[in-house]
Amino acid sequence: MNDLIAQAIDAQRKAYAPYSKFHVGAAIRMSGAIYQGANVENASYSLTVCAERTAIFAAVIAGAFDLEAVAVCTNASPPSSPCGACRQVLLEFARDPSQVIVTSVNPAGEQRSWTLAQLIPDGFSGRELPRPPDDPR
Ligand code: THU
Repeated sequence: MNDLIAQAIDAQRKAYAPYSKFHVGAAIRMSGAIYQGANVENASYSLTVCAERTAIFAAVIAGAFDLEAVAVCTNASPPSSPCGACRQVLLEFARDPSQVIVTSVNPAGEQRSWTLAQLIPDGFSGRELPRPPDDPR
């Protein structure tokens, strides 16, 4: 987990957050490799994409689909938890949400952790949906 936290701290420097000034870095372990993300804001505010989701998108385009762990770094105290939209997107790639640890840290060294199942209990997983024959999951 320490390497993942270090990557999240590093990713925070890459945030593009000129509007909120809330810089968020994320690092996720997916299918054994680490992927970074950072929030990318837009002058049309609602088009902003959170750090957790840019990390997921980087992993998916690299061919990784199995979410194992998440680390987030913000300047918030206490460390902030992922927004609802990101929780839903993380859930999409979690084989077992009770085994996916989400850790949030800040530069002051504070740390909070949850399982993804705690963050989004009884979430909509899409498992009820019909699966296309080329589904990678
Ligand atoms: N943000 C994230 O990157 N992740 C979250 O889970 C919460 C919010 C970003 C979006 C926006 O750029 C800024 O933080 C303020 O909401």
